Amino acid sequence: MALVIAIDGPAAAGKGTLAKRLAAHYGLPHLDTGLLYRAVGRLARERGVDLDDPEAAGAVARDLVPSHLDDGTLRGHEAGELASRVAAHPPVRQALDAFQRNFAAQPGGAVLDGRDIGTVICPDAPVKLFVTASPEVRARRRTDELLAKGRPVDYETILTEVRERDRRDAGRSVAPLKPAADARLLDTSELGIEDAFRAACAIIDGAP
Ligand code: C5P
Repeated sequence: MALVIAIDGPAAAGKGTLAKRLAAHYGLPHLDTGLLYRAVGRLARERGVDLDDPEAAGAVARDLVPSHLDDGTLRGHEAGELASRVAAHPPVRQALDAFQRNFAAQPGGAVLDGRDIGTVICPDAPVKLFVTASPEVRARRRTDELLAKGRPVDYETILTEVRERDRRDAGRSVAPLKPAADARLLDTSELGIEDAFRAACAIIDGAP
């Protein structure tokens, strides 16, 4: 059977790093689905589209082509904020649905990480992980990451942003952030990336 690994969780919980490690370890292609929403948010902003207009944002999502994902600044905070606004609209999610499902349907399997992979995109995935950490730990990691890049940020501001993004992602009516009923929870608050990786491998290798 194809090994599809669905990884969901809130911002800055470590799911991207974990997804990359698992993809390399199991020799699977990896899709960071957040990048799709980030690219839609960015493109909508560039075109002067109202981010709160579901239909207009959906039209932008339907125009997305792979080269839109190449922009190195998409991983930044601003694109994340734009992403979480457009991601609340059903037409946007619908426009990105087929691409994600096709990616997951590759013969050997795939690793996908996002917010609704286990619940909506790959409900039949044999492995579902929900990666979390406390808001304080996630804000601390994000702050350290940005400080290391020489950005002048402060912890309290980042913590407020982390909480706000959680609220928006978990509170929306369509595909809200929540663990699938059969997802395994992986709390990385007390785990470094190596330990989280080992814990995930143990879950995956023990999966039926
Ligand atoms: O994971 P990342 O921080 O790149 O995601 C950016 C935003 O995109 C999230 O805050 C969320 O609103 C949205 N997203 C989503 N569904 C996904 C992936 C990301 O709604 N599968």
